[in-house]
Amino acid sequence: MTSASAPGKIILFGEHAVVYGRPALAVPVTQVQATATVSENSRGGIWIEAPNVNLSSALAQLAPDHPLAAVINSVFSTLAIARPPACTVYLQSTIPVASGLGSGAAVSVAILRALSTYLGRPLTDSQVNGLAFQAEKFYHGTPSGIDNTVVTYARPVYFVKGQPIKTFRVGASFTMVIGDTGISAPTKESVQAVRILWEAHPARWEKVFDRVGEIVWDARQAIERGDTPALGTLMDSNQALLQEMTVSCSELDLLTEAAHKAGALGAKLSGGGRGGNLIVLVLKEKASAMAEALLAAGAKRTIITTVRAR
Ligand code: PMV
Repeated sequence: MTSASAPGKIILFGEHAVVYGRPALAVPVTQVQATATVSENSRGGIWIEAPNVNLSSALAQLAPDHPLAAVINSVFSTLAIARPPACTVYLQSTIPVASGLGSGAAVSVAILRALSTYLGRPLTDSQVNGLAFQAEKFYHGTPSGIDNTVVTYARPVYFVKGQPIKTFRVGASFTMVIGDTGISAPTKESVQAVRILWEAHPARWEKVFDRVGEIVWDARQAIERGDTPALGTLMDSNQALLQEMTVSCSELDLLTEAAHKAGALGAKLSGGGRGGNLIVLVLKEKASAMAEALLAAGAKRTIITTVRAR
């Protein structure tokens, strides 16, 4: 029996514009995890058990473009295993699905590592990242690759589509409260909505994406020098541009307002938007009160996470 786990993630800055070549910053969230366990079975064939999504099926019964089937098959084809041994891939995850916390990428990374290790030929990080990116296409359509990168390497990432992974220094630890709207919003749809806007007025949206790119760059520098108040202001500026891209929603706006009333240093949606999670930058000592304020304003759950100086 072999197990592997992968963390969730939040995008601190730059979602959506990252699809158009601008940089983005993301960090892992280790409080939530996806775990894949591979074990021998006696009924024959390959089985997938994923109680979180009510799935219990033979691999052969799933469509080839089912994301879980695609990930499992990609391990066999990469390792050139024509006759895989009978086994069961059991998935467990505490990462909410379709809410911007990288659940799809974490499940893929956990399966790729657990299954390849079970087969005695563990994939390298670079192979895991590449195969998880292919799987992201089934979830997202046109993913930038940020989710699989931050989840595979489990460290802060300054990400530019198509470029090798770059990490960044964190000058001073900072604390975020993540508030879940409880609205599951497929990233594919919000990415498509932004594409429609961009196709109609490319020059206008390129300018918006440029402004996001500048914010990301300024944010990276603020994080490196440990300037938490500046970081908060930059989050608010990024949120205003995400609202312009129509990827916020009334529930996210309501939580943003509540966060500011409760003393947030900055707040923005994280990930695809139109639901999913809000991230709120707070002084560490105010984190519990902020979580309470978000719950009182309608958040379905909260996670407090600290990005540690490194
Ligand atoms: O998976 P999510 O919802 O965290 O979103 C990923 C970020 C986007 O920029 C919206 C899409 C992408 O592929 O980069």
